[in-house]
Amino acid sequence: MNKIKPDTAIDRKPRTVLALIASPRTLGNCETFTKEISRHIPEVHTLRLIRLTKLRIEACRACYGCVVGNDCPIRDDMEFLLGEIANADAIIVASPVYYLGANAIIKNILDRGFLFFSILERTYGKPVILLNFFGMPGRVGMAPQMLETFAAFLGLSVKASLSIKAALPGEALMTKAGAARAEQLGKALFSSRKIKRKKGCPFCGCEIIRVAGKAFVCTVCHGTFTIDTQGTFVRKKVGGILGPPEHMLLHREWLRGMKQRFAEKKKEIMRTIIPYKNEGEWIEPG
Ligand SMILES: Cc1cc2nc3c(=O)[nH]c(=O)nc-3n(C[C@H](O)[C@H](O)[C@H](O)COP(=O)(O)O)c2cc1C
Repeated sequence: MNKIKPDTAIDRKPRTVLALIASPRTLGNCETFTKEISRHIPEVHTLRLIRLTKLRIEACRACYGCVVGNDCPIRDDMEFLLGEIANADAIIVASPVYYLGANAIIKNILDRGFLFFSILERTYGKPVILLNFFGMPGRVGMAPQMLETFAAFLGLSVKASLSIKAALPGEALMTKAGAARAEQLGKALFSSRKIKRKKGCPFCGCEIIRVAGKAFVCTVCHGTFTIDTQGTFVRKKVGGILGPPEHMLLHREWLRGMKQRFAEKKKEIMRTIIPYKNEGEWIEPG
């Protein structure tokens, strides 16, 4: 008698890995390293790539329309991008370090982040690998923090957040250690393991912190911590801004409440701002 085999259809279903490449450079480090990671992902998958620097992402107009459920008035590539992110099974974000931050396209996307609320339930918990490539020893600046902010506000599960020194195209893969790192990341993407950072915020791992008196505040999760005499970080208070979708959506509720507060204070607002209306001369390029 034939044995009934367990249904492995779900396991066989190819997954989609979305690579968000924030470098304009064809076959640069962001692109080649991401493709090398993909080669080592053991699960059957298709790699879809978006060169973020080719997208048209306009500046947020601060109309708050999306917060109250209206469509975004800006018709650009943001809808396409969010659709791809929502449909992917895992994401790799790779950015070059430009002037001590990630490529500016990352910030453009972040500034449209109120739109993330609409896909949060589909992105929460999805695995993501964050990669920064930098050319000069130690000059990473705040680039990792920017990618971690992107992941945090989409509720993604950060498998690894790495800063990799590589200046010339493909340099990240020219050493055995570099190639081994790509392999390790490929194997980790859909696994249950995370590649932990040695030092960083004890809540979320971010290495960029604000000094607040005798304590430190993480610039991503806003958790507060101190450092003991052994040099170990000691958690003091969770930041409270990150969490599962129902928690993150409280932020949207708060923003919706601001509409009411605006209405209540409208007279005072107008009294304050109108006197500035005709001051100075606005100039634009010829
Ligand atoms: C405009 C510009 C600014 C850069 N700024 C930095 C920097 O602040 N720190 C750094 O270490 N490397 C900097 N670099 C070097 C790149 O981060 C590095 O070459 C990286 O590998 C580029 O990634 P890609 O090959 O995927 O484009 C800069 C490069 C450019 C073109």
